[in-house]
Order: sequence, then C-alpha cells, then structure tokens
Amino acid sequence: MKDKLTEIISLCKRRGFVFSSCDIYGGLSAVWDYGPLGVLLKKNIKDIWWRTYVEKRGDIVGLDSSIVMSEPVFLASGHLESFTDLLVDCKSCKKRFKKEELIQKEDKFFCPECGAEIEEVQPRQFNLMIKTYLGPLEESSKPVYLRPETAQGIFTNFKNVLDTMHKKIPFGIAQIGKAFRNEITTKTFIFRTREFEQMEIEYFVEPEKAEDYYHYWVEERKRWYIEELGISPKNLRVREHSLQELAHYAQACSDVEFNFPFSDKENWRELEGIANRGDFDLSSHAKLSKEDLSYFDPEKNRRYIPYVIEPSAGVDRTFLALISDAYCEEEVRGRVRVVLKLDKRVSPYKIAVFPLLKNRPELVELARKIYQDLSRDFVSIYDDTAAIGKLYRRQDEIGTPFCVTVDVESLEDKKVTVRDRDTMSQLRIDLDNLKNFFEDSLRC
Ligand code: GAP
Repeated sequence: MKDKLTEIISLCKRRGFVFSSCDIYGGLSAVWDYGPLGVLLKKNIKDIWWRTYVEKRGDIVGLDSSIVMSEPVFLASGHLESFTDLLVDCKSCKKRFKKEELIQKEDKFFCPECGAEIEEVQPRQFNLMIKTYLGPLEESSKPVYLRPETAQGIFTNFKNVLDTMHKKIPFGIAQIGKAFRNEITTKTFIFRTREFEQMEIEYFVEPEKAEDYYHYWVEERKRWYIEELGISPKNLRVREHSLQELAHYAQACSDVEFNFPFSDKENWRELEGIANRGDFDLSSHAKLSKEDLSYFDPEKNRRYIPYVIEPSAGVDRTFLALISDAYCEEEVRGRVRVVLKLDKRVSPYKIAVFPLLKNRPELVELARKIYQDLSRDFVSIYDDTAAIGKLYRRQDEIGTPFCVTVDVESLEDKKVTVRDRDTMSQLRIDLDNLKNFFEDSLRC
C-alpha cells in the first residue's frame, strides 16, 4: 500500500467525502468542505453522539448557542490572554512559524518557506482566536470573536438552562457546533483545521465528586468510540496529561488518542480531551458578569459553584479516525479491492440497489421500485451507470454494507441477490422478505 493517508485523502476527494474549500479558486488553507457522502458520515457520527448522551439519558440536555460571541466572554474564559501560540515572524515572506519549524544552520535560523535569514528568533505570542466586527461601522463597533470552543456558550447559558429546565446536579449540557482557530500547523488534512466541529458536554457536579466523575467520563468516552462507532480497540488509548501540559482552566485532563496514519513517528494523536475544569469557568463568568452562577441544593441545604467535567470531542477527527480505521486494501482474484469496513451504523448508505442489465427496462423498473421501498426505512442509493463489477467496487470503497442486484430471474422467482460487503458472499432473498432481512441485518 502507498502512504495510507495519501490514499485516504484521494478516496475522500474521488468519492465525494471531503473537498478543499473554495476549490475552484485554488482552495483555502486548512479549511475543508464535506461532500454528499461526507455529510452523511458526519451526520451519523453526530446523531449517534446526540442519541447516546442527550436522548437516551435523563441527565443531559441540549443547546445550540451562537458562534459569534462578545469580548467579555473570552476575557472571563482566559482565551484573550492565554489562547496563544509562540511564533516567529519571517519579515521577508510575512509568514509565521513555530521556532522548531525554522531551518537551523550552525547558529543561524532560516525561513522554511522562502529561505530568508530570520534575525529575531525570539518567539512572540499570537492569539488563535478569529476576531471580527458586527454592525455597519467597523471603526465604532466592539470586536467580537468566532468561538474557539463550543464550551463557552454552555457556560454563558448555565443559568438560563438551570432556570428553565430545573435540573438537579449532577447534570450536563451538550452541544454540537462549529469552532474556529487560526491554527499555524495545518498540513494534516482534516486533523487540524481552522474551521471544525466539536461535540462537547459540560457535566456539572458537586466539587467533592469531581474526581470520580472525571474518571467515569474518561472510561465512558473510550467505550463510546469502541461500542457505538465500532472503532478497533487496538487503535485507541487513553493518555493522562502531565501537570505542565494542562490548559489554564484544567485541574486534570486525559486524551483519548487514536493511532492516525500520519507518516511521521508520532501517530498517536488526540481524538478527544476529557478535562476536570473545576469551577474555573462559572466562577470567572460570575465575577465578570456579576450574575449569580451558583447552584442551590435544597436536599443538602447548600449553595455552591459546581465543578465541571468536560468531554470534548472533534467531529472531523472522529471522521478521519473512522475512515482510517475502516480503510482496507485486499487482493481479490489478482486485483486490489479497496473497501471501507465501516460499522454499519456509520456507513453513509446502508444499501445499494442495481439492475444487472441497464438496457432491460423491466429490470430497471423493478430495481427502482425496490430502491424506493427500501429508502423509506434505510438510507439507500440506486445506481445503473456501470457494469455490475464496477458498481460493487464503488460501494465497497464508500463502505455500503449491502448491495441488492435485480437480474432476469428476479422477474420470475421474485428473489434478488444480496451481497455482503465484507465477506462478498451472496444470498438469494425473497422480495417479500427483503425489508425484514435488512431490519435484522442492520439492527444495532
Ligand atoms: N473545550 C475544550 C477544548 O476545546 P481542545 O482539546 O482544544 O479542548 C477538543 O479541543 C477537541 O476538539 C480536540 O480533541 C479535537 O478533537 C478537536 N479540535 C481542536 N482543535 C481542532 C482543530 N484545529 N481542528 C480539528 N479539530 C480540532
């Protein structure tokens, strides 16, 4: 196999999963668009997360807060002061680099982009937040920021949710949405981008119980990737942060790491962070906004600022992890078969329907009818634009678990051929029984 990441990027573009943004104008660095299959896969990831945490448990409620947020939010959160990278400017090509990216020859440093000598190598702090303005006049408006994490919208709505939903601690607020960071290191496809999506829960607990809940969430989030998304346990691990690594708000943090197919040595990279943020956020927002963000426990007759445990996952990284985990090249009868062995719960399409011969109108008509019937219950696709071998290969490449083929015999015996993506075995199934067959085979 060639470099696996290169193959995956090529597959993602070729099969409509991921395109570079503003493609017809040469692309926009570290910003990506999700194509027709990409949105289906992404939606499945987000739906499974939402179902697991918001719909199937009674202790977590949902939120969809704004992307654009005012300056005081980030003053209180510490992002204005601390959300920075240490960077060196190249005065010649005007690009910015981390110090370790510069080319060093003896005691001189050179720009990795244009080769000019860098005279001032002392890194300076650059904020990663994207600043903009609202309203008609840029000069007179106050700056606003595109949120760098969905979390802050949850903290600023803590009181609104408490007052409207009457939740008792422990309870959580969950949010899925876009976040923006002006990242400098960006050459890793959708792993590190400037616009990305997060799935975050802020889980509010009694301070004394925070450590127990922190450990619970680390285990629970690892379980989720394995049991709900079907990622292989061998490609997942948990790594606890050292004290030096902790973000300004965190008392403890662990990453769920995935074994990504990058070509450098360090392939174990962060998929998700689970942090014990203490009462940092609610206390800082309470202080700056002068709102009371405490919680009163009527049973214990006690008022306190809750601690928060935050499982914070990236949708785009989960997407890349799923495709990397599922990507296989197999030799079949002397040819290479590319197959995405995605768990059927996340596959973009569950079933593809084809007529064996597209020049036989009766077959096309029956295949289209089967497709329409199945589409009511399963996300399906109809295709008759190639010969059968090619149609199967196309579906293997995008991870469709089952293909249904209508042939001349189907008109007589009212049966169709169902092919399994992973084993390539074929079964003849009665049309009357087809829906039941897929209900059983695709059941989670
Ligand atoms: N609220 C906490 C927080 O935002 P983080 O570790 O900075 O913590 C959480 O981000 C997750 O968001 C990461 O584990 C990753 O999956 C995703 N993420 C962060 N920055 C990203 C980027 N530039 N591109 C893609 N995903 C990113």
